[in-house]
Amino acid sequence: MLALGCDHGGYPLMKEVIKYLDDNKIEYKNFGTFSEESVDYPAYGKAVAHAVADGECEKGILICGTGIGISIAANKVKGIRAALCGDVFSAKATREHNNANILAMGARVTGPGLALEIVKAFLETPFSNDERHIRRINQIED
Ligand code: RB5
Repeated sequence: MLALGCDHGGYPLMKEVIKYLDDNKIEYKNFGTFSEESVDYPAYGKAVAHAVADGECEKGILICGTGIGISIAANKVKGIRAALCGDVFSAKATREHNNANILAMGARVTGPGLALEIVKAFLETPFSNDERHIRRINQIED
Protein backbone atom coordinates (compact mmCIF):
# COMPACT_ATOMS: atom_id res chain seq x y z
CA MET A 1 0.00 0.00 0.00
CA LEU A 2 1.24 3.45 -0.95
CA ALA A 3 0.62 6.57 1.15
CA LEU A 4 -0.10 9.75 -0.81
CA GLY A 5 0.08 13.36 0.34
CA CYS A 6 0.31 16.78 -1.21
CA ASP A 7 -0.43 20.44 -0.57
CA HIS A 8 -2.32 22.80 -2.90
CA GLY A 9 0.85 23.37 -4.95
CA GLY A 10 1.25 19.64 -5.48
CA TYR A 11 -2.41 18.85 -6.07
CA PRO A 12 -2.43 19.21 -9.89
CA LEU A 13 0.43 16.73 -10.26
CA MET A 14 -1.02 14.42 -7.61
CA LYS A 15 -4.14 14.07 -9.77
CA GLU A 16 -1.90 12.78 -12.58
CA VAL A 17 -0.11 10.40 -10.22
CA ILE A 18 -3.44 9.04 -8.96
CA LYS A 19 -4.59 8.42 -12.52
CA TYR A 20 -1.34 6.50 -13.17
CA LEU A 21 -1.83 4.43 -10.01
CA ASP A 22 -5.48 3.69 -10.88
CA ASP A 23 -4.57 2.73 -14.46
CA ASN A 24 -1.92 0.36 -13.13
CA LYS A 25 -4.11 -1.01 -10.31
CA ILE A 26 -1.67 0.13 -7.61
CA GLU A 27 -3.35 0.52 -4.23
CA TYR A 28 -2.94 3.68 -2.18
CA LYS A 29 -4.25 5.54 0.82
CA ASN A 30 -4.69 9.25 0.12
CA PHE A 31 -3.98 11.59 3.05
CA GLY A 32 -4.94 14.70 1.02
CA THR A 33 -5.12 17.54 0.36
CA PHE A 34 -7.97 17.25 -2.12
CA SER A 35 -8.11 20.66 -3.81
CA GLU A 36 -6.03 23.71 -4.76
CA GLU A 37 -7.23 25.62 -1.71
CA SER A 38 -4.20 26.80 0.24
CA VAL A 39 -3.05 24.51 3.06
CA ASP A 40 0.15 23.99 5.09
CA TYR A 41 2.37 21.25 3.67
CA PRO A 42 3.93 19.97 6.95
CA ALA A 43 0.70 18.27 8.05
CA TYR A 44 0.52 16.22 4.84
CA GLY A 45 4.22 15.40 4.84
CA LYS A 46 4.08 14.18 8.41
CA ALA A 47 0.83 12.21 7.97
CA VAL A 48 2.35 10.22 5.11
CA ALA A 49 5.66 9.86 6.94
CA HIS A 50 3.94 8.43 10.02
CA ALA A 51 1.89 6.01 7.91
CA VAL A 52 5.14 4.69 6.39
CA ALA A 53 7.18 4.75 9.61
CA ASP A 54 4.41 2.92 11.51
CA GLY A 55 4.17 0.22 8.82
CA GLU A 56 0.62 1.09 7.77
CA CYS A 57 1.97 1.81 4.29
CA GLU A 58 5.06 0.41 2.60
CA LYS A 59 6.09 3.54 0.70
CA GLY A 60 4.83 7.07 0.11
CA ILE A 61 4.64 9.79 -2.50
CA LEU A 62 4.61 13.45 -1.46
CA ILE A 63 4.17 16.45 -3.72
CA CYS A 64 4.26 20.19 -3.01
CA GLY A 65 5.17 23.11 -5.24
CA THR A 66 8.90 22.43 -5.10
CA GLY A 67 8.94 19.12 -3.23
CA ILE A 68 11.30 20.74 -0.76
CA GLY A 69 9.10 21.73 2.17
CA ILE A 70 7.11 18.52 2.21
CA SER A 71 10.25 16.34 2.05
CA ILE A 72 11.90 18.30 4.86
CA ALA A 73 8.79 17.74 7.00
CA ALA A 74 8.68 14.01 6.20
CA ASN A 75 12.36 13.54 6.97
CA LYS A 76 11.79 14.76 10.53
CA VAL A 77 9.99 11.48 11.26
CA LYS A 78 12.28 8.68 12.49
CA GLY A 79 12.81 5.94 9.96
CA ILE A 80 11.82 8.06 6.99
CA ARG A 81 14.09 8.50 4.02
CA ALA A 82 12.22 10.89 1.74
CA ALA A 83 14.03 11.59 -1.53
CA LEU A 84 13.22 14.66 -3.60
CA CYS A 85 13.64 13.54 -7.21
CA GLY A 86 13.43 15.47 -10.46
CA ASP A 87 14.96 12.84 -12.72
CA VAL A 88 14.66 9.10 -13.32
CA PHE A 89 18.31 8.33 -12.51
CA SER A 90 17.95 9.74 -9.00
CA ALA A 91 14.66 7.91 -8.39
CA LYS A 92 16.30 4.60 -9.32
CA ALA A 93 19.50 5.32 -7.40
CA THR A 94 17.74 6.40 -4.23
CA ARG A 95 15.87 3.08 -4.14
CA GLU A 96 19.02 1.05 -4.84
CA HIS A 97 21.37 2.97 -2.54
CA ASN A 98 19.25 4.72 0.10
CA ASN A 99 16.25 2.38 0.26
CA ALA A 100 14.20 5.58 0.13
CA ASN A 101 10.71 4.93 1.45
CA ILE A 102 9.12 8.19 0.27
CA LEU A 103 9.38 9.87 -3.12
CA ALA A 104 8.96 13.65 -3.09
CA MET A 105 8.40 15.74 -6.21
CA GLY A 106 7.80 19.38 -7.05
CA ALA A 107 4.72 20.03 -9.17
CA ARG A 108 6.00 23.46 -10.16
CA VAL A 109 9.35 21.98 -11.16
CA THR A 110 8.71 18.62 -12.80
CA GLY A 111 6.20 18.14 -15.60
CA PRO A 112 3.69 15.27 -15.51
CA GLY A 113 5.34 13.16 -18.22
CA LEU A 114 8.68 13.04 -16.43
CA ALA A 115 7.01 12.77 -13.02
CA LEU A 116 5.20 9.57 -13.98
CA GLU A 117 8.48 8.06 -15.24
CA ILE A 118 10.00 8.98 -11.87
CA VAL A 119 7.09 7.34 -10.02
CA LYS A 120 7.47 4.17 -12.12
CA ALA A 121 11.23 3.99 -11.44
CA PHE A 122 10.72 4.60 -7.72
CA LEU A 123 8.03 1.93 -7.38
CA GLU A 124 9.72 -0.71 -9.52
CA THR A 125 13.34 -0.45 -8.36
CA PRO A 126 14.28 -2.70 -5.44
CA PHE A 127 16.84 -1.87 -2.74
CA SER A 128 20.22 -3.37 -3.62
CA ASN A 129 20.66 -4.91 -0.15
CA ASP A 130 24.39 -4.28 -0.50
CA GLU A 131 26.20 -4.36 2.83
CA ARG A 132 27.77 -0.94 2.27
CA HIS A 133 24.40 0.66 1.63
CA ILE A 134 22.83 -1.01 4.66
CA ARG A 135 25.74 0.25 6.79
CA ARG A 136 25.32 3.81 5.53
CA ILE A 137 21.55 3.81 6.01
CA ASN A 138 22.03 2.57 9.58
CA GLN A 139 24.45 5.46 10.18
CA ILE A 140 21.67 7.91 9.24
CA GLU A 141 19.58 6.60 12.13
CA ASP A 142 22.45 6.69 14.69
C1 RB5 B 1 3.21 26.66 -1.45
O1 RB5 B 1 3.05 27.91 -2.03
C2 RB5 B 1 4.67 26.22 -1.52
O2 RB5 B 1 5.43 26.99 -0.64
C3 RB5 B 1 4.81 24.75 -1.20
O3 RB5 B 1 4.04 24.01 -2.10
C4 RB5 B 1 6.20 24.17 -1.31
O4 RB5 B 1 6.82 24.51 -2.51
C5 RB5 B 1 7.06 24.38 -0.14
O5 RB5 B 1 8.22 23.93 -0.09
